[in-house]
Amino acid sequence: MAKDVIIACDFSSKEQTLAFLDRFTGRKPFVKIGMELYYAEGPEIVREIKRRGHRIFLDLKLHDIPNTVRKAMHVLSRLDVDMTNVHAAGTVDMMRAAVEGLTREDGTRPLLIAVTQLTSTSEERMQRELLIGASINDTIAKYAENAKEAGLDGVVCSPLEAQLVKEHCGAEFMTVTPGIRFADASKDDQVRITTPARAREIGSDYIVVGRPVTAADDPVAAYERCCKEFLNE
Ligand code: C5P
Repeated sequence: MAKDVIIACDFSSKEQTLAFLDRFTGRKPFVKIGMELYYAEGPEIVREIKRRGHRIFLDLKLHDIPNTVRKAMHVLSRLDVDMTNVHAAGTVDMMRAAVEGLTREDGTRPLLIAVTQLTSTSEERMQRELLIGASINDTIAKYAENAKEAGLDGVVCSPLEAQLVKEHCGAEFMTVTPGIRFADASKDDQVRITTPARAREIGSDYIVVGRPVTAADDPVAAYERCCKEFLNE
């Protein structure tokens, strides 16, 4: 399976994002467009980044009733993104509806993955605030199995859980893992984190890296460090 580093472009404007991407003169990184940028700039930012030759993970984490998700995914299917996602907490029916909506008339569709538990959520908060009595690992394994049952390609999870997901859903079931930090850096608001090198060892297929690259003094060097550690280049 293809392994790659995805940069989370968590910026609030087109100008900031394109100025950031202009710094990458060599290889074109796979980029993640999240809610902040998409809500600020709309679908045109997706088209513009695509025109520049980047692959795109559109991270909008849909979570609503199945009919609404199906229709929203149908709209997103017309944007030429490479990967998009839903919350597994929306249930198997909602995820099935997402697959239906995303599938184009010719049968093709972007990769579709499900968020299990956000990497900012601790087991303690999940149990105390969300009243989920199971352990975080059991929750993640079950949500991943649900995503597989619904026909999705993989899940977003912490790199620490990639192995667990593979054990439950098979080696071909993709793990896309945010919560990446260099060994010598701050955790920010992330809780379940690890380094790019460790993520590779545990079996992540794609790592999603935001602030360690976007907030670095030299983002290109930070991106290259991620690639070196994760892809073992
Ligand atoms: O800056 P940082 O590396 O923490 O960015 C991580 C990115 O991954 C953010 O865009 C965040 O929304 C996203 N994400 C996450 N945890 C998930 C799913 C997505 O951190 N479970």
